[in-house]
Amino acid sequence: MKKLWLLVCMATVSLVSAEQTIDGEKIFDKVCASCHVKMITSKETKKIFKTLKAPPMVEVSGQLKKNIKIVEDIDDEIHRAVVIAFIKDYVMYPHLDKSMCQAIALERFDLMPSQKGKLSEAELNAVATWVYDFYVGKKF
Ligand code: HEC
Repeated sequence: MKKLWLLVCMATVSLVSAEQTIDGEKIFDKVCASCHVKMITSKETKKIFKTLKAPPMVEVSGQLKKNIKIVEDIDDEIHRAVVIAFIKDYVMYPHLDKSMCQAIALERFDLMPSQKGKLSEAELNAVATWVYDFYVGKKF
C-alpha cells in the first residue's frame, strides 16, 4: 500500500509539472512505433502476429487499464495517474517481474529494451499520457 501511494504521489507531481506543449503522439511515432503498432484489431493481429515485434499499443493500453487495480471507490484520475506512472517506469526500466503482458506474449516477444536516453522526462510524460488518453474508448 505504501508503495502504491508513493507511486501515486510521484505520478501526480510529474503530471502537474509535465510540459503540455509536447505532442505525445509524435513521440510515439518517433520512438515507439517501430515496434508497437498503433491501431489494429485483434482479428488482424492474429493474421500478422508472426511479423510483430511487440504487442500492439491499443492492446497494451487496454490491458494496463484493466490489470492495474487500485482500491475500489478511488478516483478515476488517480487510476489514470497510476497507469501513466507504470508506463513511464516500464519504458525506462522494463523487467519480466513487472510485465503485465500475458505469458504467451512474453514468450513470443523478447523483453522490451529500455528506452533510456531516447527521450527526455517531458517527452516521457507526454508519450505515457498519450498512451493512456488516446485509447480511451478504442477497442482492440
Ligand atoms: C525495440 C522495440 C520496442 C520499442 C522501441 C518500444 N517497445 Fe514497448 N515493448 C516492446 C516489447 C517486445 C514488449 C513486450 C514485452 C515486455 O512487456 O517487455 C513491450 C511492452 C511494452 C509495454 C507493456 C508492459 C506491460 O507489462 O504490459 C508498454 C507500456 C510499452 N511497451 C510502452 C512503450 C512505449 C511508450 C514506447 C516508446 C516510448 C515503447 N514501448 C517502445 C518493445 C518495444
